Amino acid sequence: MPRPFYITTAIDYANGAPHLGHAYEKVLADIIARYQRFQGRPVHFLTGLDEHGQKVQQTALKRQLAPQDLVDDIAIVFQEMLKNLNISNDDYIRTTEPRHQEVVQDFLQKLYDQGLIYKGQKTDWYSTRQEQFLTDKDRDENGDWPEIFGEVTQTTEENYYFKLSQFQPWLIEHIQSHPDFINPRFRQKQVLEFLKEPMNDLCISRPKSRLTWGIELPFDRNFVTYVWFDALTNYYSAVAKKGLWPADMHVIGKDILSPPHAVYWPCMLKALNIEPPKQLLVHGWWTINAQKASKSTGNASETLSLVQSHGADAFRFYLCRDMVVGQDADFSIKTFGERYKSELSNNLGNLVNRLLNMVGRSYAGVIPAPNTEDDLEKALKDLWVITERKVIAAFDECQISHAIESLWVFISAMNAYIDTRAPWKLAKSTEASDRAKLESCLAYVAEGLRLAATILSPVMPETCEKLLHNIGADPVKAFAGQLTWSNACVGRKVSERCILFPPIEPKAEATKE
Ligand code: ME8
Ligand code: MG
Repeated sequence: MPRPFYITTAIDYANGAPHLGHAYEKVLADIIARYQRFQGRPVHFLTGLDEHGQKVQQTALKRQLAPQDLVDDIAIVFQEMLKNLNISNDDYIRTTEPRHQEVVQDFLQKLYDQGLIYKGQKTDWYSTRQEQFLTDKDRDENGDWPEIFGEVTQTTEENYYFKLSQFQPWLIEHIQSHPDFINPRFRQKQVLEFLKEPMNDLCISRPKSRLTWGIELPFDRNFVTYVWFDALTNYYSAVAKKGLWPADMHVIGKDILSPPHAVYWPCMLKALNIEPPKQLLVHGWWTINAQKASKSTGNASETLSLVQSHGADAFRFYLCRDMVVGQDADFSIKTFGERYKSELSNNLGNLVNRLLNMVGRSYAGVIPAPNTEDDLEKALKDLWVITERKVIAAFDECQISHAIESLWVFISAMNAYIDTRAPWKLAKSTEASDRAKLESCLAYVAEGLRLAATILSPVMPETCEKLLHNIGADPVKAFAGQLTWSNACVGRKVSERCILFPPIEPKAEATKE
């Protein structure tokens, strides 16, 4: 049995409603998880919720709720989103769970016992919004604090510090010797750039006078754990008893790469003598009207209404079709509508219905066997060989948009083939050679669709299952043996018709443009 592929997403902050950015990340990780499963690899897919910290405490206070009650409510909403998006996670971790708190305290105690955590005092600038201390380097050209930090105040505090700086040489070496650690590669350069400056030690506590909603330090009850130290540990705590560490992949956004995931996390693990994760897959930001989609951009949550109106698969398709992993992308309801109509409904959906109609009318709904193969069929088969190779390579690199692009070249080619072959004309002919051509045409389109729906299954699981069922193909459990041209549907009964993408105009409320 191969070692399970352990994949995680960031755990979302429990201080607002889920939005486009949260949805995208879970979809991306889900596609990778499903792809690995289809490749025959056992997978453990974790996602969850980041429930401690100042912002949760403040929101709870404002709403006159106990923080635990607040995060319990929010957890329901986030889990609902996962269900609606058809996310196939195997586990869901919440940082208020005992299984997590125990591991955080165990980590802290071990570091403390080794002398890697010490008590210190500092006067510093502090951003409540970002929950981090700032230095003069964080100021803008005018010497002001950038907008993203919100209100910045000066505080003198005793706190506990983790000796982060002593791991800097190791970290630089690790990143340089593991070029796959940070994907895409160009982000690695940014991290190494950051590491050119000497790092400070990491403050890992907050005094309870300021923050109570957190995990208590095991060696000093007057303090709770700093959110990042708490949150990052989820990846380990969730599998502590399952023997699945190290993680193969942490899927995260670019805003939390450096320093949290690329610096704090590997150094924490190194200090604990635990292997670092194998890869950080870093995606970019969805923007709406050129602004980062977030809790504060009101419409970022409303985009999720497209899941209700058009189905999870259309939404999953759009998100992964329009964002190159690593780059930013602008969400547009107009583009969503256009892609839905042209690529899904017209290009794929109509092709399926053309096949079902012709097979229904000419062969009583049973897919005929191919009898001839001329240049057109041969070209289609050859194109599939290239397509399969490209799609698999793209999936292996987690470049889902490239996989979709390559597959749509093939789907367009099938449409072009059917237009050229004109089976509706052949069906009217009584010539034996025309009948033979007709039979081949329908058999080839059926097989092409079977292959396309099989390989597209990680992206659009429900649609592909439905498509395969409608053309009489078996459901896919694994890719092995299923991606080669084999006329597997010959003799199978097809459905009468199948509406994969009903014509629906997206409602403008999803984004106020
Ligand atoms: O950062 N586009 O939580 P979070 C794409 N709790 N991705 C986006 C995005 C956007 N507009 N907005 C947010 C946290 N994300 C921490 C993580 S992990 C140990 C702790 C992504 O709710 C963001 O990059 O602010 C992150 O990966 C995830 O959503 C959760 O963001
Ligand atoms: Mg954020």
